[in-house]
Amino acid sequence: MLEHITIEGVRNLTHVQTPLAAGATALYGANGSGKTSFLEAIHLLGVGRSFRTHQSKPVIQREMQHCRVVGRARRGDLSVVMGLEKHLDGGVRARVAGESVSSLSELALHLPLVLLDTESLGIVTGPPEGRRRLLDGTLFHVEQGFLSLWKRYALAVRQRNSGLRRGILESDKAWRQKIAETGTLLTEQRAVIAAKFADELASLAPALSDDLTGLKLTFRAGWDRKVSLFEALERNAESDTAQGFTQVGPHRADLRLVQNGVLAAEVLSRGQLKLALVALRLAQGILIEDASAVPPLYLVDDLPAELDQAHCASVCKQLGRGRQVILTAVDRGSLEAAWGEDPLNLFHVEQGRVLPA
Ligand SMILES: Nc1ncnc2c1ncn2[C@@H]1O[C@H](COP(=O)(O)OP(=O)(O)OP(=O)(O)O)[C@@H](O)[C@H]1O
Ligand SMILES: [Mg+2]
Repeated sequence: MLEHITIEGVRNLTHVQTPLAAGATALYGANGSGKTSFLEAIHLLGVGRSFRTHQSKPVIQREMQHCRVVGRARRGDLSVVMGLEKHLDGGVRARVAGESVSSLSELALHLPLVLLDTESLGIVTGPPEGRRRLLDGTLFHVEQGFLSLWKRYALAVRQRNSGLRRGILESDKAWRQKIAETGTLLTEQRAVIAAKFADELASLAPALSDDLTGLKLTFRAGWDRKVSLFEALERNAESDTAQGFTQVGPHRADLRLVQNGVLAAEVLSRGQLKLALVALRLAQGILIEDASAVPPLYLVDDLPAELDQAHCASVCKQLGRGRQVILTAVDRGSLEAAWGEDPLNLFHVEQGRVLPA
């Protein structure tokens, strides 16, 4: 769990220092007070970037050269201090337990996050990339070595594509082999996690709303799996050469979200789509909890603004107890109503200050 956070110069949060409880924390305050910025700062610490933008400038407070977030994460009896500094020129420095980290992905091992922000609705309605990221982001916590496998695959595709574009075909078979070898392993891992995702979703979705009954997730590998990846690449080789890029493979994978055989994005209402996204994220959280030594921290941005009271309450019920959750909303009453009887640590956010309520 994240037991303490210090935020300096993230948007309107000039200097915030707050202990955090193990259970549920709720931040309420007027529009523009800094609630989302608070969650963004935590996201910076766990992921190395904001969930709203990949750029540095928008997250760094105006007139400042950098922002800094320092957190203390606890696992059992051990506390580890982690910190991240992001500079205007795009430079990022991160440290865990006093040591510089070589890859920002190390941060996520100490502070896994599950983000429930209905702004990323594109995961449900948009192109496959967002869903692949959801799947791979989960696999990162479940399969050690997934990231390095993914990197090897991505490199092989890049190298082959560069060869295809430049008309260098002598080494094409070797690259296809490399893609097939890494891509097949990658797909095996994805298929396993996708099946677990589908199971979790099948029980979570109807619990959030009757309207989501029958919502199903199916995995598409990125090629017709009646044949091996190597064979699929071979069959496509001529067309790939003409197009100048690799047209089949795990980089084209998708998770299709369907209800009664129709794409969810085409039948569900906007609110229902948001709930479907929440269901996917909750499923992700459960899979990370099952596999990772460090349970994730749930960041829930402004649920009441997006969903009616009954659905907010069902999301909160599913989020349940025993998890570390940080929720935000404009008004305190809607958060308390949604969360119910259980204890809620309340903070009031006011013009960039986060004060215990
Ligand atoms: N780079 C920046 N430097 C300083 N302030 C900024 C910067 N970027 C945004 N802000 C301001 O930070 C404030 C907090 O924004 P934030 O999105 O955290 O508000 P919020 O409390 O989540 O509001 P809402 O309820 O509308 O979602 C806003 O007033 C915004 O204008
Ligand atoms: Mg906000």
